Amino acid sequence: MKANLLELSGVHTHIGAYHILHGVDLSVPRGKLTMLLGRNGAGKTTTLRTIMGLWRASQGAIAFNGRDITSLATPEIASMNVAYVPENMGIFADLTVQENMLLAARSARNAAQMDEARLKWIFSLFPAVEKFWNHPAGKLSGGQKQMLAVARAIVEPRELLLIDEPSKGLAPAIINNMIDAFAQLKASGVTILLVEQNINFAKRLGDSVAVMDNGVVVHAGSMKELAEDGALQHSLLGLAI
Ligand SMILES: Nc1ncnc2c1ncn2[C@@H]1O[C@H](COP(=O)(O)OP(=O)(O)OP(=O)(O)O)[C@@H](O)[C@H]1O
Ligand SMILES: [Mg+2]
Repeated sequence: MKANLLELSGVHTHIGAYHILHGVDLSVPRGKLTMLLGRNGAGKTTTLRTIMGLWRASQGAIAFNGRDITSLATPEIASMNVAYVPENMGIFADLTVQENMLLAARSARNAAQMDEARLKWIFSLFPAVEKFWNHPAGKLSGGQKQMLAVARAIVEPRELLLIDEPSKGLAPAIINNMIDAFAQLKASGVTILLVEQNINFAKRLGDSVAVMDNGVVVHAGSMKELAEDGALQHSLLGLAI
């Protein structure tokens, strides 16, 4: 078994006429939480979308569990137990929380078929999901919607979670709840690649870190090392801290 669950080597991505990723090298160690940091427009979201097959790499290779997934279609990648929580969360506002969860559960046709022990675990991570179970998801606050989006992604066991800025626009108290939930999620052994702008969130959760700028990874290492080096943070992230 390889130490890295996911590996990108020299990945280039074009969106239409634009050349966005310019040779991304990224290793995501198995069972760890890897933070993907970088200024606005650095290419973080494009990297997650390329991993997921939503954009196609024009050059380079993406390996998952030692298998080349570079040219697989998104549903095939998802079927390998990779889940993606996009920046806009992808929640259906008119459906209830329960219906949103059910849509994400491939093996269940109705609520009764959902794995009860797993649901209980999800409720313990994200109490709002239980509290608003029969309410339209559109009624949830921004933070609760983020929690629901993550809860959807883990409704069935996953090997890899790709999560794009879950703390965006949230109040500090809610961010703390989210950090606690992610810490528990991490303890469950799932591998996580997490995009963040919030350096404190990153410091408290990250095992390893990659920093992007202008479509490439400009720094990779342990989160601890970056957290303790203010000058390095400043040079890599500038105003983002
Ligand atoms: N659909 C698109 N069409 C054209 N350009 C795009 C598209 N999506 C992203 N880009 C460009 O690609 C670059 C990287 O964008 P990306 O969304 O990956 O950045 P990001 O690091 O996620 O930024 P943010 O922190 O603001 O979310 C930006 O310059 C952006 O303008
Ligand atoms: Mg983004």
